[in-house]
This record gives sequence, structure tokens and C-alpha cells, in this order.
Amino acid sequence: MHLNLCGTTYAQTVETLMEQKRVAIIGAGVSGLAAIKACLEEGLEPTCFEQSEEIGGLWHYTDDGGQQHGASMYKSLISNVSREMSCFSDFPFNTDTPPYPPHSQFHHYLQQYCHRFDLRKFIRFKTQVVKVQQAEGFVEGEWNVHTVDTGTDGTEPCQHVFHAIMVCSGVYHRPHMSLFAGLKTFQGTVTHSRSYRTPDRFQGKTVLVIGAGNSAGDIAAEVGLTASKVYLSLRDGVWILPRLTHGARPLDLSVSRALLHAPDFVSRNYIKMLSRTHINQANYGLHRTKDPYTHGFMVNDEIHYRLASGKVVAKPDITEFTPAGARFADGSCIDADEVIFATGYDVSFPFLDSDILPSSLQDQELYKLVFPVRMKKHTLAVIGQIRNRGGASPVVELQARWAAQVFQGITQLPDQDMMLGYFRRDRQYRDARFGPNKLPVVDLRYTDDIARDIGVKPSFWRLVLWDPSLAFHTYFGPAFPVHYRLMGRHSWSGAAAYAKTALIKTYSATCTNRVQTRHNVNSLMTVLLVCLMVAVLSGIVMKS
Ligand SMILES: Cc1cc2nc3c(=O)[nH]c(=O)nc-3n(C[C@H](O)[C@H](O)[C@H](O)COP(=O)(O)OP(=O)(O)OC[C@H]3O[C@@H](n4cnc5c(N)ncnc54)[C@H](O)[C@@H]3O)c2cc1C
Ligand SMILES: NC(=O)c1ccc[n+]([C@@H]2O[C@H](COP(=O)([O-])OP(=O)(O)OC[C@H]3O[C@@H](n4cnc5c(N)ncnc54)[C@H](OP(=O)(O)O)[C@@H]3O)[C@@H](O)[C@H]2O)c1
Repeated sequence: MHLNLCGTTYAQTVETLMEQKRVAIIGAGVSGLAAIKACLEEGLEPTCFEQSEEIGGLWHYTDDGGQQHGASMYKSLISNVSREMSCFSDFPFNTDTPPYPPHSQFHHYLQQYCHRFDLRKFIRFKTQVVKVQQAEGFVEGEWNVHTVDTGTDGTEPCQHVFHAIMVCSGVYHRPHMSLFAGLKTFQGTVTHSRSYRTPDRFQGKTVLVIGAGNSAGDIAAEVGLTASKVYLSLRDGVWILPRLTHGARPLDLSVSRALLHAPDFVSRNYIKMLSRTHINQANYGLHRTKDPYTHGFMVNDEIHYRLASGKVVAKPDITEFTPAGARFADGSCIDADEVIFATGYDVSFPFLDSDILPSSLQDQELYKLVFPVRMKKHTLAVIGQIRNRGGASPVVELQARWAAQVFQGITQLPDQDMMLGYFRRDRQYRDARFGPNKLPVVDLRYTDDIARDIGVKPSFWRLVLWDPSLAFHTYFGPAFPVHYRLMGRHSWSGAAAYAKTALIKTYSATCTNRVQTRHNVNSLMTVLLVCLMVAVLSGIVMKS
């Protein structure tokens, strides 16, 4: 294969490398944008390669779902993480954003982020990374990155040399489809949730949705509005939680640092109680054996109505497909016109050799889910290969800040033996706690741990001395992303003020009649005061 160096000689490229450390970032989704910003903060020179023509990754909705194979969003998708828990740490959402932004508003937010920090100029759109290899000798840990232009057919690959790599290509890469017995004999249409856009074509049909994740819930609920009937196949039931708790307060605002110190059963029972208040599983065939706290739950606000109206019917695991439909573990059979596999996605890194980063999660050895442990030089970081209950942005942003500091030599990693030891203990802990999952699950402990490594974890005792009310908010209140900008490198001067008001700001777009309410209250108070004054005055007059 002939490789051109895109107009520069190798010597020139090496010379540039010696001047400023150049970092290749693969992908311009949430992770890639956070990575560009983190590189700029630490004085690194980022170049981001994005195979599509727009930023945002899967938040960039298109009616055809884009040309690539990875996950994509459907038209009605609304974030399942509230705005204050899913923003970057130093860039809050606009005040006109509702507590749960639809995908278009989330994408707009990412565009504004790019604009505010001038990130676009570092992105090469329509450029796909096809190969990443260690440069000869790998002396300082340099990499050769091979790219092709996705806008033109048959172009020669380009080779670039970089000091470091941030892999930000996303985790929802390939639709995961299970090979059920008899599937090939099924006469109806089989699709994956990846290609679902709108419910239009399912009108009047009988549809079988497979899966217990958020895609399965959203699609079954939406299709159930107009389909003749929707069957939802669950291999081990499901816990369902609403986005909103009492007073329509976002559920994820319950996540606080104080709760980390409570025994697990407190959170577990709280989640179970909330779920049961929403829908009693036993009455709707949803019984799940696994723990919702560690093994997850579906977030959905509508499916219980569809179940209660019989438009969606829960079914157990499928044993086999028949030409007309499917047979289930309880022996029952159904006929179906359409089957939608909402069975998730598989990870893959087609541009990296498996000895650097295997696509099989079981074979990966990543220190704190970011750095391949066995590399001679730690100049490659994986950003965003996680599964979390909260927003992705704050987590990937911290990973990127950490990676940028390591590349720049500001933060050191422990030696290989220590990292390997940590990795093994951590995997054991995760497997025991969350079960061997398709993706490693992370929570507030994980982000606080990375934040500690780079000196930005909010310290309760330091905050108490500085601003006791802020300390109280940070520890007992919702664990907002902005807390990672209160102290340490690249703290944000507006962070303290924002942290104290983030809870109220959640409702900035929906609290539309606040002025009116105050006005009404004020008017009422005025009327009462006037009445009181009149009564007092008339009493005085009567006495005299
Ligand atoms: C249906 C769905 C709904 C979700 N809803 C939420 C939610 O409500 N809240 C939340 O926080 N998270 C949600 N997530 C999780 C989501 O993964 C993250 O929010 C976030 O989008 C991950 O960003 P990313 O940049 O890591 O990956 P992606 O968004 O997948 O972006 C990866 C980018 O890399 C590019 N790329 C890939 N390979 C190459 C290559 N070889 N060369 C060049 N470019 C490449 C892709 O084109 C893409 O732009 C949802 C996920 C799905 C699938
Ligand atoms: N509104 C939103 O914001 C929204 C909407 C959709 C998706 N998302 C996000 O997008 C990501 C992907 O979600 P997803 O729902 O597409 O995938 P997912 O979370 O990986 O869920 C896949 C589901 O398919 C089930 N499954 C897999 N193989 C199966 C089989 N052979 N038979 C029966 N069931 C099977 C899994 O069951 P097990 O649990 O038993 O493995 C799981 O319930 C998640 O992060 C999710 O939160 C968000």
C-alpha cells in the first residue's frame, strides 16, 4: 500500500513533533469534543478525525441514520439524563433547555460547546481513520495514523505521525443480534433498533420487540400507540424507573456524595421502592431476579400506560422463531409481522491491532478503563468506553483531562505492576458488583477517583473552610459535573456560584409563570395587608 504523508516529509513531521506534542483524536462525538478541549487546556496540539460531516456522534440525528454502522438515535429520543447532570463541567446548558433535552437540543448544546471553545478548527471532517500503528521503534511512543477521505471514492490513504492517540470512536459500534433458533425461517421483517426512526410503518401491525434496555422500552411504548399489538420479550424481566420522581424532580438529582457512604441496601431499596411505586412488576409479567442497583434498570415514563392498556404485552425469553412468529420459554406462541431486536451493540476498534486494544472487553486490560496497561509508553488512551447510569459527558471529560495530563507529563501513571494489580482488583470488584457486563459500569466513585488523580476532586474539608454552604451543596446535594471545576487545574471562576444554583437552573425553561406566581402572591399579600390595615383602622375609629 502506498502511503502519502499529505504533503509533508517524514523529517518535517518529526520536527513538528519535537516542537509541540501532537495528539490524534479519533471521532468528534461527546468524547472527541471533550478530548480536543482537554488537549488545548494542557498545551497539546489536537487533530480530530471525524468520518462524518458533523460533530456530535450519535447525537447528530439524521432521517437515514447516517452511513456508518454504529448506533443512531430515533426521532422522538429524549435524553434520559437531566440537563444539569449531563453537561460538561464548565459549560452549562442554556437557560431555555428543559430538564430533559430532546436529542436536537443536546446536539445544539454540543455545537455551542464547539463554538464557545473554538473546537471546530481542529476537526477534519469526512476523514476516517483506517489504521493506527506504533511508529518504528516506538521510542517516544509515536504513532502512525492512516486516514481515508470518506467524501471521495478511491482516494489513497494518508499517513500522519502523532505523539499520542485518544480513541473516541464510541462504544455502540455494531448492532448486536442474537442467533435464535428458526430465525431464518421467520417470514416477517427483522430489524435492529439501530434502524428505527419513527413508528409510522408499524401502524396496525403486530410487532415483537426483544430486549429490556432503554431502546426496547422507548420503541415498544412508541410503536404501541399505533400498532395492533406489541409483544416485549424479556429474558429476565425488568425494573422500570421514571425519569421524574416526586414533584416531577429529575430522578438522577438523587445521586450525591453523601449517599456513597450509605450501605448499598439504602440505594437498592430506594430504587426498588421507586420502581414499584411506578409499576408493580408482578402484575405485568415483568418480574426480574437481578438487583436494579447493581444490574441496572430501564428508564421509561410511558410503557406502563401501554402495558396497562394491553397495547404492549410482556413475554419471557424466546425459545425459537416459527415462520409466522415466535415461541417463548413459557410455551406460548405468537404471530408477528415485524421483529425489532433492541438487543444493544458490540464494541469494535477496526483500526487498531488486537494486541494494542482487543475488541473483546474480556481481553482488554485498561488501567481505570483508559490506559492499556501493557504499553511501553502510555501515549494511547481510550475515552468513553463505559456504561453509566448518569450522563456520559462529565465522565468522558474527566477521562480526557486525565489523558491529556499524562501525555503532557503533568500527571504520572504508576508502574506496570501496580497498574496490573489495580486492574485485576478493579475487574474483580466490578464483576462481583455489577456482573460481567457488556460494558464496564461506572458510578460517582469512578469519576471521583479519576478526579482525585488529577487533583480536581472537591474536598469537603477544604470547601468547609472556604465556603460552608458550598461544601454542604457538594457533599449532600446532587453530584453536579461543575464540582470538578471548583478546585485544581483549570478550575472555573464561575463554578462555585453555578454549583449553588444548578438545582434551581434545572427548571429555568419550564418555570414559565414564576413572575406571574410571585405577582399573584404579592397581590394576595397586598390585599391581605390592606384588609388588615382597614380592620385595624376601623377598630381605632369605632373605639374613638
Ligand atoms: C440510543 C442511545 C441513546 C443514548 N442516550 C443517552 C442519554 O440520554 N444521555 C447520555 O449521557 N448518554 C446517552 N447515550 C450514550 C452515548 O453513547 C453518549 O451520550 C455519547 O454520545 C457517547 O459519545 P462518544 O463520543 O463516546 O461516541 P459517539 O457518539 O458514538 O461518537 C463517536 C464518533 O466517532 C466517529 N468515528 C468512529 N469511528 C471512526 C473512525 N474510524 N474514524 C473517524 N471517525 C470515527 C463517529 O462517526 C462518531 O462521530 C445514548 C446512547 C444511545 C445508543
Ligand atoms: N432515551 C434515552 O436516552 C435512551 C434510549 C435508548 C437507549 N439509550 C442508551 O443507549 C444505550 C444502548 O441501549 P440499548 O437499549 O440499545 O442497549 P442495551 O442497554 O445494551 O440493552 C440491550 C438489551 O437487550 C437484551 N438482550 C441482549 N441479548 C438478548 C437476547 N438474546 N434475548 C433477549 N434479550 C437480549 C439485554 O438483556 P440483559 O440486560 O439481560 O443483557 C438488554 O436488556 C444505553 O446506554 C442506553 O441507556 C438511551
